[in-house]
Amino acid sequence: MNIGIDKISFHVPNYYLDMTDLANARETDPNKFHIGLGQDQMAIIPATQDIVTLGACAAAKILTTEDKQAIDMVIVGTESSTDFSKSAAVIIHRLLDIQPFARSFEVKQACYGGTAALQQAHDYVALHPERKVLVIAADIAKYGLNSGGEPTQGCGAVAMLVTKDPHILAFNNDSVFYSEDVYDFWRPAGHDYPLVDGHMSNQIYIDSFTRVWEQNKKVNQTDSTDYAALTFHLPYTKMGRKALRAIYPEMSEAEQQRLEARYDEAISYSRQVGNLYTGSLYLGLASLLDNSDLAAGEKIGLFSYGSGAVSEFFSMTLMEDYKKSLTVEANYALLADRQALSIAEYEKMFSEKLPTDGGTYSFSDSSDFAINKISEDIRYYNK
Ligand code: COA
Repeated sequence: MNIGIDKISFHVPNYYLDMTDLANARETDPNKFHIGLGQDQMAIIPATQDIVTLGACAAAKILTTEDKQAIDMVIVGTESSTDFSKSAAVIIHRLLDIQPFARSFEVKQACYGGTAALQQAHDYVALHPERKVLVIAADIAKYGLNSGGEPTQGCGAVAMLVTKDPHILAFNNDSVFYSEDVYDFWRPAGHDYPLVDGHMSNQIYIDSFTRVWEQNKKVNQTDSTDYAALTFHLPYTKMGRKALRAIYPEMSEAEQQRLEARYDEAISYSRQVGNLYTGSLYLGLASLLDNSDLAAGEKIGLFSYGSGAVSEFFSMTLMEDYKKSLTVEANYALLADRQALSIAEYEKMFSEKLPTDGGTYSFSDSSDFAINKISEDIRYYNK
């Protein structure tokens, strides 16, 4: 029985900052951001939207009434929770009118959480083939104004419906994973922004990739020629390229060019959005599916990395007529219709926070699932 991604969609807020404007404001050569990091625009979120908003918007685009009756489990992978106890999944479950006899919970391991959720969804459907699982990978990547990580911020959510007989991609059950207890990026309780050793995190990312890649070759008896494309976690789009290039010595020049062309297709959306933390790999996957011409039956390799650090390499196979299940035009429109912010607007929006004094405040953000009120520290969302 095939199990995999039956539907996939993503959501980003309506605002972005151009990286040339950020470079100019920070007295940096714009090429450092556009070429050195591979980022052109960065999604910016107002205080009246959070991971619940992002996740609900992403999922609402793909779920039918029938799906909502068949979903047994809602899993949100995130490191941007607004609550240490209650999960965003429970709120999203209600906002989307999913049938009540469902499990809803959050998964955390830095940027790896979405992959943990996806694999758990696979295992559940393997035991319960008639049921469906909604997986959401949602995050808001914030390092702080004027910080070293500022150009690698962003936000958004990717929603995936995991079912048997999927229309888009099937798991090949070939995961190779790796854990290493390191402090390259972490966010202790009480910190608004992560603590990060950026250059160390780059190195651990690359080392983790080469480790799971080598192990994958041994365990699954594969090499690069078995994959139509390799996709990567994308904290910024140059990062995955650096990892891909780390295995170039084992390939012919033609093979390097083939994978680099697919890589460019996979980073198109991330160049315009920035970092989604745990959603980044799956935004890359969506970009590859929308922008490339891969054939049914071909295999895509996925490298997931979450600082701290856990990584996983696995593959999925493209289903017959998968293109018919994509929402390419809506995805293009979502990115094209956003509003550019000036630096002053970005800094203001970035710094705004919802009140935390327990009082009652109303807000006028009318966008889907935005927060319209906070009272006694409960967030109320548009429905
Ligand atoms: N034109 C073109 N490229 C330029 C440039 C210019 N004018 N100036 C610098 N660059 C290149 C550098 O050569 C470098 O490329 P390389 O990585 O291929 O060598 C790249 O831009 C980044 O420059 P660097 O000096 O390393 O940037 P930085 O000290 O500001 O740090 C990060 C970059 C990514 C480490 C930092 O933004 C960060 O800490 N981000 C958060 C953590 C993160 O994203 N980690 C990823 C793994 S999870």
